[in-house]
Amino acid sequence: MDWNTLEQTCKSCTGCGLCEGRHNVVFGVGNREADVMFIGEGPGEQEDIRGEPFVGAAGKLLDDMLRIIDLDRTQNCYIANIVKCRPPHNRDPLETEQDACIGYLRNQIALIKPKIIICLGRIAAMRIIREDYRITREHGQWVEKDGIWMTAIYHPSALLRDVTKRPETFDDLLSIREKIKELNAQI
Ligand code: URA
Repeated sequence: MDWNTLEQTCKSCTGCGLCEGRHNVVFGVGNREADVMFIGEGPGEQEDIRGEPFVGAAGKLLDDMLRIIDLDRTQNCYIANIVKCRPPHNRDPLETEQDACIGYLRNQIALIKPKIIICLGRIAAMRIIREDYRITREHGQWVEKDGIWMTAIYHPSALLRDVTKRPETFDDLLSIREKIKELNAQI
């Protein structure tokens, strides 16, 4: 499937109940040829209004985190979510909603062909890396799956709520920067 078809299909999706409350489908943002892809959980209020992932308070923090490792959403990474429409009251997306939406993300990954996927938070890690992923124990660890290096870090919203998680996340970010360097050196 090409980008246009994928985006148009996604933007007119009625595959689950989340379509009823949405203002915008939040498809994804960034460089479609990036080596690095970030995957969050699902849009919040600001994202639903603006149609772009991570544009609220958590998004500002994410942009700061990206800057630390020389990434920028307009230049050299791509950001998407597990579900593309906002769950009401920012609740976790249901398994059935994730199932209905995951095909769009799979197609995005197939088109981008990233070398590295970074899951933002527990929900994305459990869907992308392993069903029983434990973010508190495993964040920052690397696994290679289907030829792609994957890791998870705490969700920026969790870092806003609990600043004591920030030093560990800083270490995880440095590890991501190293992994990018390492993979680029291999070419
Ligand atoms: N949280 C997410 O997981 N994704 C967004 O796009 C915004 C907040």
